[in-house]
Amino acid sequence: MSDSKQLRAEIIEKVKEYYQVQFGQKEFISGTSPVNYAGRVFDEQEIVNAVDASLDFWLTESRFSADFSEKIADFLGIKHVMLTNSGSSANLLAFTALTSEKLGEKRLKAGDEVIAVAAGFPATVTPIIQYGLIPVYVDVDIPTYNINVAQLEKAISPKTRCIFLAHTLGNPYNLDAIMEVAQKHDLWVIEDNCDAFGSKYKGKYTGTFGHISTISFYPAHHITTGEGGAICTNDPKLAKLVRAFRDWGRDCYCVGGENNTCGKRFTQQFGNLPLGYDHKYVYSEVGYNLKMTDIQAAIGSAQMDKLPAFCAKRKENFKTWTKIFSKYPQYFTLPEATEGSDPAWFAFIVTVKKDAPFTRDELTRHLAKNKVETRNLFAGNMTKQPAFMNKAHRVADNLDTTDFIMNHTFFLGTYPGLQDGMFVYVEQVLDQFVGSYTK
Ligand SMILES: Cc1ncc(COP(=O)(O)O)c(C=O)c1O
Repeated sequence: MSDSKQLRAEIIEKVKEYYQVQFGQKEFISGTSPVNYAGRVFDEQEIVNAVDASLDFWLTESRFSADFSEKIADFLGIKHVMLTNSGSSANLLAFTALTSEKLGEKRLKAGDEVIAVAAGFPATVTPIIQYGLIPVYVDVDIPTYNINVAQLEKAISPKTRCIFLAHTLGNPYNLDAIMEVAQKHDLWVIEDNCDAFGSKYKGKYTGTFGHISTISFYPAHHITTGEGGAICTNDPKLAKLVRAFRDWGRDCYCVGGENNTCGKRFTQQFGNLPLGYDHKYVYSEVGYNLKMTDIQAAIGSAQMDKLPAFCAKRKENFKTWTKIFSKYPQYFTLPEATEGSDPAWFAFIVTVKKDAPFTRDELTRHLAKNKVETRNLFAGNMTKQPAFMNKAHRVADNLDTTDFIMNHTFFLGTYPGLQDGMFVYVEQVLDQFVGSYTK
């Protein structure tokens, strides 16, 4: 009978064999195979890691979680990385940390205002509303699809306390301008880096400029753990708050399975509890449980080794789309990187010009009919979404460009799973579509 080590090695070998049979390179067939906008890209190592973690059967945070968070910290050059179960949870936790009474007068309170954009994903706005603060929507610009910094000063009021923005589709916003305004008005900055993991601004990774930042590992993103996310910060106080809010609101910071890390488990006084009440069950925040499992982290750890190559491929794919769409400058406005930035593009975002002979919807329906997947810029205009339109908010000036994007803009994928044949095929589909309007 083999011992468990031997059995584990045999299982891992079988997993590698399984990967080749089940997931080995599939041929792209024009018109039959879909051209997806995103998807998980992996090899045998992700499945080996997932099985390895499953065989540990520890399940909650353990050796793979430590490994994964360390790789993220090393990559970004940031001190604290806390793993969570989604990018939305990461945003919720980053924001919630700033509401802690432990931050005294600096804490975010109901009625305070937060600078936001309406052209984005709801998870960047939802926590603001959930905690009773007021999103102040600033318009964005084309072709960066990021906040229009010229309108930023107009958005600031005596109630403004925070700037919470995503780097749109991987394109960094003007961080010089944002950080300058934040400093001038003493504002918190949360960078939603969910779509921009690996993007740089002036030589430094996004997610390292603000007080706190977030990442998503949903399959559409730069790396995946299925569901998953992370919160990053250099501030030990914020890191401790995020951990507390993530882990039921508890005051204790022992990792799973450990006891008495602080050495004061039974000797302290908290609230109105009896002296020496077990620190493990002391709650100093009103928290959640939003932790990641070690199986997810094991997949993430294997994905991290591929992140630099994934980012390079995303940049290359962006260039290929640019070449294809720049054949029609009269019909399309193409995306541009923010000055000084080097985006690891999440997508290739295109705006159909107002006087083009076809609409965005006609084009995206034609692409869909031909199995080419596209997406709109998420929620379009948050102030028009059923769940958000009647919630307290302020519009800094106008949302004219946001509305234009809602009606005229779409994106294609840049994910590393795109193959050469897919670009050739989509170019043909596009040429045929444009040709049918210009004969
Ligand atoms: C900018 C942005 N922030 C946050 C999220 C939420 O991430 P998740 O899907 O992991 O909850 C997304 C969505 O994918 C996103 O695009």
